[in-house]
Amino acid sequence: MHHLFDDDDGVSNPSTTPTLQNVIEARLSRRAALKGIAAVGAYGLFGCVAPGTSTNARASGLTFTESGRFLDETHHVAPGYRVQTVIRWGDPIHAGGPAFRPGRQTADEQERQFGMDNDFIAFMPLPRGSTSSTRGLLCVNHERNTPYLSWPGMTPQTFNKLITREQSSVEMASQGHSIVEIARSGNEWRLVPESIYNRRITARSAEIRVSGPAAGHPRMRTSADPAGTRVIGTMNNCAGGTTPWGTVLTAEENLQNYFTGDVSKGAEAANWKRYGINGRGRYVWGRHFDRFNLDREPHEPNRFGWVVEIDPYDPKSTPVKRTALGRCKHECATSAVIHDGRVAIYSGDDERMEYVYKFVTRDRYDAKNPAANRDLLDHGTLYVARFEADGKMRWLPIVHGQGPLTPANGFATPGDVMIDVRRAADLLGATRMDRPEDVEAHPETGHVYVVLTFNERRKPDQVHAANPRGPNKYGHIIEIVPPMVNGKPDHGATDCAWEFFLVGGDPKNPEHAARYHGEVSPNGWVAAPDNVAFDPKGRLWISTDGQDDWAGFADSVYAAETSGPRRGITRNFFSAPRGAEICGPAFTPDGKTLFLAIQHPADEKGSTFDNPSTRWPDFKPDLPPRPAVVAITKDDGEEIGS
Ligand code: FEO
Ligand code: CA
Ligand code: CA
Ligand code: CA
Repeated sequence: MHHLFDDDDGVSNPSTTPTLQNVIEARLSRRAALKGIAAVGAYGLFGCVAPGTSTNARASGLTFTESGRFLDETHHVAPGYRVQTVIRWGDPIHAGGPAFRPGRQTADEQERQFGMDNDFIAFMPLPRGSTSSTRGLLCVNHERNTPYLSWPGMTPQTFNKLITREQSSVEMASQGHSIVEIARSGNEWRLVPESIYNRRITARSAEIRVSGPAAGHPRMRTSADPAGTRVIGTMNNCAGGTTPWGTVLTAEENLQNYFTGDVSKGAEAANWKRYGINGRGRYVWGRHFDRFNLDREPHEPNRFGWVVEIDPYDPKSTPVKRTALGRCKHECATSAVIHDGRVAIYSGDDERMEYVYKFVTRDRYDAKNPAANRDLLDHGTLYVARFEADGKMRWLPIVHGQGPLTPANGFATPGDVMIDVRRAADLLGATRMDRPEDVEAHPETGHVYVVLTFNERRKPDQVHAANPRGPNKYGHIIEIVPPMVNGKPDHGATDCAWEFFLVGGDPKNPEHAARYHGEVSPNGWVAAPDNVAFDPKGRLWISTDGQDDWAGFADSVYAAETSGPRRGITRNFFSAPRGAEICGPAFTPDGKTLFLAIQHPADEKGSTFDNPSTRWPDFKPDLPPRPAVVAITKDDGEEIGS
């Protein structure tokens, strides 16, 4: 199991049959084809040059010696590279802050310490607007807690009966986001504890503004916030993204795990069902705090599952929940500038059979005036992806009053559409995907990589051109090709082409039905791809979540060319310690440091705080395993991958 305390094992999407809208959309797609929108299918040989890229692509710089397969207590990296721990769960983020007291932390201490289960990482150069690769802000999400690795005397079976109010409070303080300044000297990264930027934004205490169509909506109101415009906290912060104007987007993912109460009745019952909220709560916050108790506060779940924008360069800034981007289990929120200056934000809804979204701003972004971009994410159009068998795909607009999104179908206002965006997407006939994780546009070609981690519950009769295996244990990566306008990718386009970048698994094992470049090595093929990043040369770095489950070896990081004759050959670079998944790959602008978030080390069967399967990264008998951010550098100081 990628983590025993499974956050996301359900299927909430009930739809099985095409809607009338599907048929209409299919016809529209055919018409688009007749108008000459290029399909990628003709190029669809694996390992061939991607459409839209030059055939004399840069020579491969991925010359590192591949790492091997492991499943042991520590990490492993390709020869010639160094792995350094930068910051760990419980490390104080301020000078003079409280030291980590394993098993005895208080919430007030955790508020001033690095959070648990680190996920997304952004490196934001300092000073603002620079491309510094030696000084910057490490902006890190904290997605989850592993209680039986946090507290003595707990097991996966018992923790939710044992967690106290204070321990729930510590959990809240450990989720959210951390901003810390770091600096490099020589090959060494260090925390700058006296920095004015260092800051926690937690599920327990952060004041967050709500903006966009759902702000102030009656279904956003609670007894603590009768106006429906201010939420305490952000939680389950999974992956994210950055904007061209220097802010960080953090994505609230598995909101279903936090609420307890009777879900069988009330005005929100259908909404809870569609979001997998079963009222049993994996976290027991609702037992200790009324706002997570559905019987008391039925609107509280509507206040999570959003993309939150944070300005890390202004330590006094209030984060904002941008409801125009829809409410779902957002994995990520990555940006791409459109040829005309508008901005697209891509996101996946990470659950089996859920959808891929993009938001397109109404207004242009102003590179010279950051203040003008402050509320760019409040106005625009949200779209959901529909993939066709002929290599074309369409972004379907999710607009109140259009098509089925009317009061007759329960969408009284634009806010209702954003709160119930999954149901809106159902009615539009979006394609049910194999757990969309990271969705990210290549900085040069504009091709959008959609990472589908796995879906062991897709049945053989549910296979689809874009999700071709049932069950799908190894995951796959789709490449969306937007049209070009004036030589630049049009991320605002509704009609695009698509192709597989790779279909994961062992290409030598026919049972896996993997599709791969023939030159991938036995150590190089991927299972359960999750979060990705592009290095400055445009190569794709893929981190995994669940290889230990499906393939029997530790989660890893791979690198692949995205164009040229070696396109799609993934090469094994790094392996995690046992029980961990790898999140947040992020490069410095010079490509000479790769940051990785090692999440939930030791989270596997039989492993507890008292007797963990590894004590990574400290390996001291009095310290538990600790999620941590590591920095990888090359011994000769050159760029990662060379
Ligand atoms: Fe938080 Fe979808 O991984
Ligand atoms: Ca993830
Ligand atoms: Ca990413
Ligand atoms: Ca995952």
